[in-house]
Amino acid sequence: MLLLFRCFVGSSEPSAAAARSSGSGSESGGSEKKAVRRMRSATARLRSLSLDDLSRALASSGLHAFTQAELSAATRGLSSSNFIGEGGFGPVYKGFLDERLRPGEIEPQHVAVKYLDADGPQGHREWLAEVVYLGMLKHPHLVKLIGYGCQDEQRMLVYEYMARGSLEHHLFKNLLSTLPWCTRLKIAVGAAKGLAFLHEADTPVIYRDFKASNILLDSDYTAKLSDFGLAKEGPQGDDTHVTTRVMGTHGYAAPEYILTGHLTAKSDVYSFGVVLLELLSGRRSVDKRRRGREQHLVDWARPYLRHTERLHRVMDPCLDGQYSAKAAHKAAMLAYNCLHSVPKSRPTMRDVVDALQPLLAMCSDVPAGPFVYTVPPESEDNGKADDDEAVAAAAAARKKCLASAVHSHAEGDHRTFANQRCASSVAGHRSSSASSSPKESRDRGA
Ligand SMILES: Nc1ncnc2c1ncn2[C@@H]1O[C@H](COP(=O)(O)OP(=O)(O)OP(=O)(O)O)[C@@H](O)[C@H]1O
Ligand SMILES: [Mg+2]
Repeated sequence: MLLLFRCFVGSSEPSAAAARSSGSGSESGGSEKKAVRRMRSATARLRSLSLDDLSRALASSGLHAFTQAELSAATRGLSSSNFIGEGGFGPVYKGFLDERLRPGEIEPQHVAVKYLDADGPQGHREWLAEVVYLGMLKHPHLVKLIGYGCQDEQRMLVYEYMARGSLEHHLFKNLLSTLPWCTRLKIAVGAAKGLAFLHEADTPVIYRDFKASNILLDSDYTAKLSDFGLAKEGPQGDDTHVTTRVMGTHGYAAPEYILTGHLTAKSDVYSFGVVLLELLSGRRSVDKRRRGREQHLVDWARPYLRHTERLHRVMDPCLDGQYSAKAAHKAAMLAYNCLHSVPKSRPTMRDVVDALQPLLAMCSDVPAGPFVYTVPPESEDNGKADDDEAVAAAAAARKKCLASAVHSHAEGDHRTFANQRCASSVAGHRSSSASSSPKESRDRGA
């Protein structure tokens, strides 16, 4: 724990002094308390925890403090072949902690190492929030923070490696395969459980940056939330909301939060509704390459969600109709409620989990059988002007999905639900997500 505190001493900005102090190992209990106080004021997010609570939580967090040399060895000197991607915090590398690193202390394992980009939009504050929150909060649907690095100006975060990357990648960037319906449901349930856990914690936490790129998937598609840089303590006592600078990502943030800066757990519920809609539709929350109203998924999809007979317009053509229409309708209604313009009328995340979980059981009810493509009925004339484009898009989507089937078959298909099918109508009124837009900008402070 002493090592953890050293990084926080005088660390509202990274400083060489902090790094120098990291070798001493001689802090008294008094300076520990001072460090904790600084850490609390630096994050301004842990006001309701007593010093003792905080000390105990961090002491039992089991986080490891890594040196730069250790992380360099783990990532093979930040080799380009280990590079995974880059977000607002900085570049991320795959690494391996082998048995020689800390014999008896750390299990050999793959990790993802995030390096703070000193010239990027995020900084020490986000790093600190991540260490504090993920050091204290443990849950099967939160990504596990294994440790951190803090040396000179460098700030690093070391996470369990999530073998399948982000939901964003699978929904919008993976041209070779499409997430099957029940895998999408499994992901929605997992992510909802992660949010419910945060909202129900002794000191409730508002996540504030719920979006497809922050939902990471392990080898069996278990969803885990990552990135707590924007997380914030929920309102205390009689307060109904926290007032804060508007942060988050364009397309996911709740409208009342953008307008007023009033943050509640229901802001996360709205963002969950947006992601649920992305899972149903295979469309991005904001896609500037689409026409008019279709650029904003929520505005475009909302009118279709409550009507069973119109829902097919929203459903992802890449699903090729292989979903339970009943489950899809229930999920769509849930998304509709999460997206309610009045925050109080939105369900809690516990309600969401309770509504979604039973839908998983419907996966086994879906009969296996040949895929049937049903042309949308003539009477549905909305969007008819798009027909040529829609047919081409649907054909492209089917081609993509065929490629997916071949691909997954060749791999022995780890997707548990791939063969569960149901005949349902498929609307082709969209362009394929195979041609989804480049990564939208992370609009922090939007
Ligand atoms: N624990 C992890 N295991 C595997 N891949 C990860 C892990 N953490 C992050 N990644 C990947 O690293 C890349 C960058 O992630 P990062 O969270 O920094 O940015 P982002 O989510 O894309 O954007 P934002 O800054 O808005 O969160 C993404 O491709 C992400 O999937
Ligand atoms: Mg992220």
